[in-house]
Amino acid sequence: METSNKVVIITGASKGIGRAISHKLAALNMNLMLAARDLSQLKKVQEEIIDLGSGAINILSTDLTKVEDTKKLIETTLNQFGRIDILVNNAGVGKFKRIDDFTLDDYNFIFDVNVKGLFLLTKNVVPLLIAQKSGHIINISSIAGKNGFKSGTLYSASKHAVQGFTWSLREDIKEYGIKVSVICPGSVVTRFGGKEVDKVEWSLEPEDVAHAVGYLVTESVSVNTAEIVIKPRFNPRSINWEARS
Ligand SMILES: NC(=O)c1ccc[n+]([C@@H]2O[C@H](COP(=O)([O-])OP(=O)(O)OC[C@H]3O[C@@H](n4cnc5c(N)ncnc54)[C@H](OP(=O)(O)O)[C@@H]3O)[C@@H](O)[C@H]2O)c1
Repeated sequence: METSNKVVIITGASKGIGRAISHKLAALNMNLMLAARDLSQLKKVQEEIIDLGSGAINILSTDLTKVEDTKKLIETTLNQFGRIDILVNNAGVGKFKRIDDFTLDDYNFIFDVNVKGLFLLTKNVVPLLIAQKSGHIINISSIAGKNGFKSGTLYSASKHAVQGFTWSLREDIKEYGIKVSVICPGSVVTRFGGKEVDKVEWSLEPEDVAHAVGYLVTESVSVNTAEIVIKPRFNPRSINWEARS
């Protein structure tokens, strides 16, 4: 599918996987609206990718837990680009501990970004996509949306919510020609949830997830890949990275 001139909102674009997705889609000549709370980090990403392709790159400080910020993100994108073609719901947070150590504040922290923010943004983008009878919503979930794991009750529950949301959303809007996809990566080398990157085992690179997004936005108009599960091939502790091929 032709990607030039498409308009994409990417949440959580200030670092990690969102930054890598921004690089990938800029190189595909797409027009990007990058959103996250940290404006200075967003500016850095904007500077990194401004010359990668022919699309315009705009940024907006956005807190997805705030209803007014999610509306402003859509309004600003429409003012600057006139349309929205693709929404990449990538922003997410995690905390990991045993269930009896979790607090209600932890619950709200995780669900407000991973589920409520995604809901608010998607809900307000969908009418635009229905009106133009085209578009694509891509949600970044996790392997944790398919399995449980130790210390992962709240995070895993939030990503299971993303899975159910995505499947149901597809049924709501497929008749309008709108694609809906979800990507479920295994562990990725980012600082997600305060992770120490040099201690990550069995890991993907952020670019591996970006590659999957690149595939989704270029697949044929007759296809809607519903889900991509990405598992790492290497455990960095057990192999010689220099020798991998
Ligand atoms: N890393 C992994 O192992 C892994 C594996 C599977 C799936 N994932 C998923 O991949 C996505 C990206 O994770 P990552 O590893 O790239 O994490 P990261 O490096 O911590 O990046 C998270 C992004 O979300 C943004 N964000 C957090 N709270 C926000 C809020 N209230 N409003 C707006 N933006 C907010 C952050 O920007 P600001 O702080 O500037 O707001 C940042 O850009 C998440 O959905 C995560 O669940 C990660």
